[in-house]
Amino acid sequence: MRPVPQHPSTSRSESVRAAPSGHTECVESDVTATARVTAAWRARETGRSDPLFHDPWAATLAGPDLVAALTAQPPELQDRASSYTIVRTRVFDDWLLSTTGCLQLVLLGAGFDTRAFRLSWPTGTQVWELDQAQVLEAKEAALARVATDSGCARRHAVVADLAGDGWPAVLATAEFRPEVPTAWLAEGLLPYLQPEAVETLVHHVSMLSASGSRFAADFVSADLMAARNA
Ligand SMILES: C[S@@+](CC[C@H](N)C(=O)[O-])C[C@H]1O[C@@H](n2cnc3c(N)ncnc32)[C@H](O)[C@@H]1O
Repeated sequence: MRPVPQHPSTSRSESVRAAPSGHTECVESDVTATARVTAAWRARETGRSDPLFHDPWAATLAGPDLVAALTAQPPELQDRASSYTIVRTRVFDDWLLSTTGCLQLVLLGAGFDTRAFRLSWPTGTQVWELDQAQVLEAKEAALARVATDSGCARRHAVVADLAGDGWPAVLATAEFRPEVPTAWLAEGLLPYLQPEAVETLVHHVSMLSASGSRFAADFVSADLMAARNA
């Protein structure tokens, strides 16, 4: 994997620990922080008796220390901190499974998403996971310790700076075919990009999308994120 320049929002020093508010706070350098927190909440949801989804790899990806720290908080704080992530996970699971005409799925800012092998895909489906080098390397290292052979999609991990202009060319070298209808998902990514970078990202997605392609994203403003973590 080639190293990529870090976007300002993710290059700063940050890793996470549970804060008394039930949110998370940054304490040291770790660009995998947001992906790990997301996985930790998915691990918690997977452990509930009536989960909205089942992600058996989430706990491994988050790491036992973070799962323990987050789940040691009062349940109401955990619910408040995790509900958005949990609901959006299920919403995007259902949306992706509805994109039956798209045999190419591109996860923009894939983080520790396990949908390539967590969900059932039509034969011939390929999944591209785009993220920063450190995130993808940490993901591969964690997944190497567990079995992930239950899926039916071919998976490509692609190092990409989604705040820049270079990623379409990198995607093209990873067997992506713009003439094939594609489902694009930007889940939890947009708050980490500057507004102009979001516009550029959407432009590139549009240029790479054949007729029949679909695009989905969630959006939480950077101001709201900052207020939650204050
Ligand atoms: C909150 S996580 C969400 C991960 C995943 N989509 C999920 O829902 O599990 C945000 C992800 O966006 C990635 N990201 C943020 N800025 C990026 C950039 N400029 N280029 C590539 N990835 C970026 C982070 O590394 C992180 O994995």
